[in-house]
Amino acid sequence: MRRKMAAGNWKMNGTQVGLSVLDGLIASHAESPCDIVICPPHPLLIPATTRCAGGPVAIGAQDCHAEAKGAFTGDVSAGMIADTGAGYVIVGHSERREAYGDTDAQVQAKAVAAQSNGLIAIVCLGESLSQREAGDALPLITAQLAGSVPEASTAATLVVAYEPIWAIGTGKIPTLAQIAEVHAKLRAELVARFGAETGEAIRLLYGGSVKADNAADIFATANVDGALVGGASLKAEDFSPIIHALEKS
Ligand code: PGA
Repeated sequence: MRRKMAAGNWKMNGTQVGLSVLDGLIASHAESPCDIVICPPHPLLIPATTRCAGGPVAIGAQDCHAEAKGAFTGDVSAGMIADTGAGYVIVGHSERREAYGDTDAQVQAKAVAAQSNGLIAIVCLGESLSQREAGDALPLITAQLAGSVPEASTAATLVVAYEPIWAIGTGKIPTLAQIAEVHAKLRAELVARFGAETGEAIRLLYGGSVKADNAADIFATANVDGALVGGASLKAEDFSPIIHALEKS
């Protein structure tokens, strides 16, 4: 059985005062059978890990540099993230791939850095609308998976998030059949590469406009082990019903 996961990506939102969102999640999900992760901006990692210590909510970062240290102004290494007490880092989010030109090879190097520093890498991939309309979604996703996921990954160090770019922040989601098709393909590729035991155990999240009203259907879809949630993770009253739907799934 894969343990379900609800991960919230706050993107460039949040303040120290806003960390009170965490208190609502901690109170509502004390005995959760799911992994709950919040990924705030870097300055909030230490106050967030301090606030969540010993509770049901784990903390992750939204990106890391592949190198351990050095002259990389503005960047943060995986070791620095681990040093805050965070347990996860998102790599390869489409906003990084599009705005910063992160390639599959760079995403893979970041994921390697994350895993070697004891962090779980949440590797994101997904097609644009034009790629989907051209019928290229599955080959593109397959190539992204092959290029972005580290060779030494295990189910304990890797989570893969399928996030169609056209569904992020738009309120549009793919059909459940489309989600199932992509997740089945990702599962098959992971099994082919890592063997049945590891390939079946790696968790696959869906991300892109997950809300309280569509979460249960998405979570009932084969090979969907949870969600990576952007906008709806910013408030406990929006995120908590999604987590409840996952807990019931
Ligand atoms: P959204 O973002 O839930 O606001 O669509 C998802 C993501 O970018 O991870």
